[in-house]
Amino acid sequence: MTTSSADISPNYQEYLRRLPKVELHCHVEGTLRPATVVELATKHGVALPTTDVDEVYRYSTIYEFLEIYQRVNSTVIDREDFARIAYETLEDGVKLGNLKYREMFFNPTLHTARGIPMATVIDGLIDGSKAAEHDFGVRCAFIADVYRQDPPEVARQMVEEVLAHRRPELIGLGMDAAEAPDPPEKFVEAYRVAKAAGLRLTSHCAEDGPASNVTTCLDLLGCQRLDHGYHILEDPAVVARCRDEGISFTVCPTSTAVVYGWPDLTTHPITKMIDAGLQVMLNSDDPTMFHTDIGTEYVRFCGQNNYSPALVRRLVLQGVEASWLADVEKATMRRAFEAEIDKLDRELLG
Ligand code: ADE
Ligand code: ZN
Repeated sequence: MTTSSADISPNYQEYLRRLPKVELHCHVEGTLRPATVVELATKHGVALPTTDVDEVYRYSTIYEFLEIYQRVNSTVIDREDFARIAYETLEDGVKLGNLKYREMFFNPTLHTARGIPMATVIDGLIDGSKAAEHDFGVRCAFIADVYRQDPPEVARQMVEEVLAHRRPELIGLGMDAAEAPDPPEKFVEAYRVAKAAGLRLTSHCAEDGPASNVTTCLDLLGCQRLDHGYHILEDPAVVARCRDEGISFTVCPTSTAVVYGWPDLTTHPITKMIDAGLQVMLNSDDPTMFHTDIGTEYVRFCGQNNYSPALVRRLVLQGVEASWLADVEKATMRRAFEAEIDKLDRELLG
């Protein structure tokens, strides 16, 4: 993959990195700093294939990726460990990309299946996010994700268990892992239970599955926004529908460039989704695992595509729009973002 943005000015690179940001597609389990993985493995006596921090994250397919995702997360055990990983990734988001607000995924069954109580997971993550809010001003809410390779009954039970440990910070249900073998209709029951309880709904879809998965997620599962969605481009009628309905897509340049083979970001499906008038906003997905961060996603993707400040501002504000904040909070955040971007315009684009 082309990773440099040498063709844009240092001022514009700094501008892109320092823009205030919302992130709606980031898996906490994909954010562990390699050094933290090694420290936690030592703390708990967990064997890793390598303790070389540069070698921890190496793979080239979604299947290899998911194997390592599980393995590194087997080192996260105590409530303090969950707090630590949430805190560290929010710190990274703030320092590397001026992150202001994130709705962050976690995979409950990845942890409960190895005997970790649900309360340890949820309360630990919230502890870490509160500490990060205190120290850095960044806010965070959480979305529990169905792991697609789980049986439907396990997913439904996960939702019920999450609801039994409901906290105000836990706002939604999502779905991830490998899409091709396990289509969205498999989890209609889990989504029905979540919807009845008032959780917001999203799902990874048309990531490596067909455009029809978009329709299934909207109509059968009741999703209010969608994660990825690239294969929607194969069905112009679904594109037109999503454009007309203003459906938001949380897209991830680097992760998909790596595991789905779109190494040139200037021809990545995201560029065509934008050209087609779809509402997209940029995210880092699994930042440390893909050797990126939210600031770098803006620098790489907007830089390599020579996107104008006006278009970049639109992408940033689409993050606020697509969030599940209350309308009044969105309005406040939008005003704050506009003011901060105006200031950056004067300072760096003069
Ligand atoms: N789980 C974590 N990251 C993912 C991704 N990019 N796609 C599917 N499942 C995931
Ligand atoms: Zn994802």
